Amino acid sequence: MGFYNEVIVPRLVTCACGTKPILKQRQKVVPLAKGAVLEIGMGAGQNLPYYDSNSVTSLVGIDPCQTSWRLAQPRAKALGIPLEFVEGSAESMPLPDAHFDTVLMTYSLCTIPDAGAALAETYRVLKPGGRLVFCEHGEAPDASVAQWQRRVNPTWRRLLGGCNLNRPIVSLIRDAQFRVGRFDQMYLPGTPRIAGYNVWGSAER
Ligand SMILES: C[S@@+](CC[C@H](N)C(=O)[O-])C[C@H]1O[C@@H](n2cnc3c(N)ncnc32)[C@H](O)[C@@H]1O
Repeated sequence: MGFYNEVIVPRLVTCACGTKPILKQRQKVVPLAKGAVLEIGMGAGQNLPYYDSNSVTSLVGIDPCQTSWRLAQPRAKALGIPLEFVEGSAESMPLPDAHFDTVLMTYSLCTIPDAGAALAETYRVLKPGGRLVFCEHGEAPDASVAQWQRRVNPTWRRLLGGCNLNRPIVSLIRDAQFRVGRFDQMYLPGTPRIAGYNVWGSAER
């Protein structure tokens, strides 16, 4: 990783993921996590303040980026839940089969290079009946927005640490054999439409 990807990108992404509409999204989904929880692509730990310490018994965060983990430290210290950080990739996690009650993914499926492999690993580490709780931005349903997403994506991805604008989030989750329950979707207010189309909900293993 060069200086840009190692130092600038994690800070840029932390700012972009800390807007008011995104914090509102975190408030909606993070409290759904229960029991033994794995957070994939924990980044700078922006979800940590939203976990319900009465429902979560333990938390593991995985991310390949050490800089993000350093940025997460103040929030990690304030957390009243045992937290372990694993430096690694979602596509091949050094974690046991059928271990977690919940896997949380927020704004990570856009960036993980092989989303299909990451979801297959998510399925593997969840207990039967366990839940993937997700909130992601992705492919917009409107043709004109989707066309702009395709145009802009190559440059966007280069500048923003591999983030893709147009992944079909719900289809990817279904393709990984999850039973997707109710999910919600909308363009986040105050966010450019190409990056603002959000889907969130949960899926059962
Ligand atoms: C846009 S950030 C989102 C961070 C965090 N999930 C949030 O909601 O603020 C994407 C995160 O995915 C992480 N990431 C990139 N490749 C990954 C991989 N192969 N496995 C796990 N996480 C990865 C990045 O390091 C980064 O922290």
